[in-house]
Amino acid sequence: MSGRNSYYITTPIYYVNDKPHIGHAYTTLACDVLARFKRMDGFDVHFLTGTDEHGQKVEKAAEKAGVAPIEFTNAVSQNFRDLAARMNYSNDDFIRTTEERHKKATQALWNKLVEKGDIYLGAYEGWYAVRDEAFYTETELTKGPDGKLIAPSGAEVDWVEEPSYFFRLSAWQDRLLQFYEDNPGFIKPESRRNEVISFVKGGLKDLSVSRTTFKWGVPVPNDDDHIMYVWLDALTNYLTAVGYPDQECESFKKFWPADLHMVGKDILRFHAVYWPAFLMAADLPVTGRVFAHGWWTNEGQKISKSVGNVIDPLQLVDEYGLDQVRYFLLREVPFGNDGDFSHNAMVSRMNNDLANDIGNLCQRVLSMVYKNCDKRIPEPGTFTEEDQALLDAAKAMLPTVRGHMDNQAFHRALECIWAVISDANRYVDAQAPWALRKTDFARMETVLYVLADTIRRLALICLPVMPESCSKMLDLLQIPEDDRSFESMDKALASNTELTKPAGIFPRFVAPEEGEGA
Ligand code: ME8
Ligand code: MG
Repeated sequence: MSGRNSYYITTPIYYVNDKPHIGHAYTTLACDVLARFKRMDGFDVHFLTGTDEHGQKVEKAAEKAGVAPIEFTNAVSQNFRDLAARMNYSNDDFIRTTEERHKKATQALWNKLVEKGDIYLGAYEGWYAVRDEAFYTETELTKGPDGKLIAPSGAEVDWVEEPSYFFRLSAWQDRLLQFYEDNPGFIKPESRRNEVISFVKGGLKDLSVSRTTFKWGVPVPNDDDHIMYVWLDALTNYLTAVGYPDQECESFKKFWPADLHMVGKDILRFHAVYWPAFLMAADLPVTGRVFAHGWWTNEGQKISKSVGNVIDPLQLVDEYGLDQVRYFLLREVPFGNDGDFSHNAMVSRMNNDLANDIGNLCQRVLSMVYKNCDKRIPEPGTFTEEDQALLDAAKAMLPTVRGHMDNQAFHRALECIWAVISDANRYVDAQAPWALRKTDFARMETVLYVLADTIRRLALICLPVMPESCSKMLDLLQIPEDDRSFESMDKALASNTELTKPAGIFPRFVAPEEGEGA
């Protein structure tokens, strides 16, 4: 199905044991930017996010809150929807694993795996971490500060002994290794790919895929004592959302296999080992890529509830502005690496990259047009070498940025865009249109035209990252809705269009105490 014009991108579905924090906002933001970029690039996009509502971890959180699991998940799941609205995510669907469509899909997948002989009944004996909803071998564990055994993630483990169904993961080792070899782009970044390959080479044991000691989950078909392992349940959401088990429906034919599962590095193993094995076992095509991004810390410290330094994305947005936060998260840290949130870094990006670089460019150019050209985009004369150089640089952005986006290299895409913003700022200073106003009015018109058209291209290419602010820029330039896709990128800016009065779009940071009474 290569060359098809569709793009299916997913976030992890988040546990509803707690309120969303910056890490959840980050993963979904990255997907939102890709989804928006692909839509502008002419793709039919399906962008999925949602919540993972089953399992022991969520059951315990509900117990602690003193409410029934479904009441609890209804409430917490809503927080994730609210976050999506506030962050301006453009997801096409929001899936909850407690929905009927999902129960149907997971049970169908289970039945298929049974039919293929990849699930059998046995008994599990070993360590389990509820926090990770994951099984660990003795050799992976270490002693924590209080002497208790802990998993590599830091989660406490419990000894579990119970009847269990198993997925024959051991039988998939060679086929998985072959699959990674045949599909070098399946796991990104490269360093993570190597980690997964050496993990699989180290040997795979059959995976316990059901539990009998709690009830909050999807029942195993034909055996009411067993609840499906929450990860088998959760991963299936990607299939549910496009119509599985109906493989003949429009959405399934169009969007499966998914193009990209975006995840944090903590859950790569589930997506890059278990999931392709389940899919292959069920005779289903495997997702194109799993990208595992890095981990955010807060002013150098690991984010954790017990430390009390959890960053609330809604609070960030209130403090710095929505598009400022969206830009910062994708620009500050090379995507794939770990990153640190700090107030100073945030303010520096907000003031330098946004208010100074792009904000001033837009404001001073459009103000000059408004004041000196009868509020209209001027008619350009013949382009000089300098004009052509800027126009060409602006034109060259799209193919380069597209390449970076296809590699999930957001920071590089933004770097490349900001190089053109610097070019444009240097060009304004060198051409000095304010001086030309008196000496060569026609030349000033050409310069302002070149700049206005460059601003148009910049606003279009930044639209996926900063939808609100860049829409305002395009509104100022009176660019019609129909001309806001990449197909229209090379359509030259129309002269004589009357502008609305320019207004600043990228404010500088104002500290709360300075703001008061001002
Ligand atoms: O694992 N930095 O859900 P979860 C960056 N339900 N990203 C972070 C982060 C941080 N500090 N903290 C969390 C689950 N994330 C399962 C997934 S998918 C079929 C099931 C992000 O609520 C990152 O994407 O624990 C990470 O993988 C995800 O939240 C884990 O969310
Ligand atoms: Mg987690």
